[in-house]
Amino acid sequence: MGLTLHIVAKTLFGAEVTAELAAIGAATETILSHIQSRIDNLFLFLLPDTVPTPGNRRYQRAVRRLEETVYRVIDERQAALAADAGDLLSMLLLARDEDGSPMTRRQLRDEVMTLFLAGHETTALTLSWAFLLLGQHPEAYEQLLAEIDSVLGGPDGRPPEADDLARLPFTHGVIDESLRLYPPAAAVTRLAIRDTEVGGMRLPKRGQVIASQWVLHRDPRYFDDPESFRPERWLPDQGQEPLARRLPRFAFFPFGGGQRLCIGAGFATTEAVLLLASVCRRFRLELLPGQAITPKLSFTLRPSAPIRVRLHARAA
Ligand code: HEM
Repeated sequence: MGLTLHIVAKTLFGAEVTAELAAIGAATETILSHIQSRIDNLFLFLLPDTVPTPGNRRYQRAVRRLEETVYRVIDERQAALAADAGDLLSMLLLARDEDGSPMTRRQLRDEVMTLFLAGHETTALTLSWAFLLLGQHPEAYEQLLAEIDSVLGGPDGRPPEADDLARLPFTHGVIDESLRLYPPAAAVTRLAIRDTEVGGMRLPKRGQVIASQWVLHRDPRYFDDPESFRPERWLPDQGQEPLARRLPRFAFFPFGGGQRLCIGAGFATTEAVLLLASVCRRFRLELLPGQAITPKLSFTLRPSAPIRVRLHARAA
């Protein structure tokens, strides 16, 4: 979480948040578990956030803590802003409505907060699940190391770069397979704005539709041996179109789809593949024995307990 938060802060906002990582991490955790408890409990769901219960007060404090950082990032940039720094924060600051007005401080805060939150936990989870799956599947892990070493020149070689993406198809397959089996967003929901029909079923106004990545990604109509971790299923097959192109449009949709398709899909995939290659180039992962990790559907699909992995520096 720390690493992916650092990356999102630095790449999107050009901001240094290293000193605050622990506090931001704790605040994020409080916010997510507060949202979760409201989902789990109808009473809490109906209780307004502003009623000063201990839980609500912890939540408000955590939001304020995150806001502190978010406003600092915005204010520092605004003070320095003459030129376009070329990142997303500059785009937000320089954006103008049709009537020429810029975003308000509150709008900027909402955008930055969303990107901070949406842009780091999901990618961290993707890597956590990938580490677990690799620890459970030594053959796939060896194949991954072989690919990484041949492209990057082994532990003493060089770190991966964006140009290496196309040369790391198996590594990419490991990420796709992790996203398939443990999609960080396990379901998306939609609310009908009027009476309508979907797939032959009547859907009344305000009716809810849930499309679950967890369910569809494990559907044998689309994936052979769907419960198995097989990164090679994503590799281009001789004479066959790659799986990603053969699948119906929403059989594999870790990033959602349609109007609200994840804005960070390309960013997250690039980041996850390059991080996996970076870590595995330098360290051998040893999944500590005796762990009973199961997926837990919280706001996102999280491991039921921390996944414990020992890192061994790889000798050249
Ligand atoms: C593996 C990592 C990620 C996964 C699995 C993921 C998944 C998703 C999904 C499923 C949605 C659609 C939600 C819906 O339809 O209701 C979504 C939306 C979104 N994601 Fe991601 N995401 C990831 C990484 C990121 C990153 C890195 C960023 C930011 C840089 C980001 C920013 C957003 C935003 C802003 C939206 C809302 C888009 C909109 O409503 O127009 N996500 N994400």
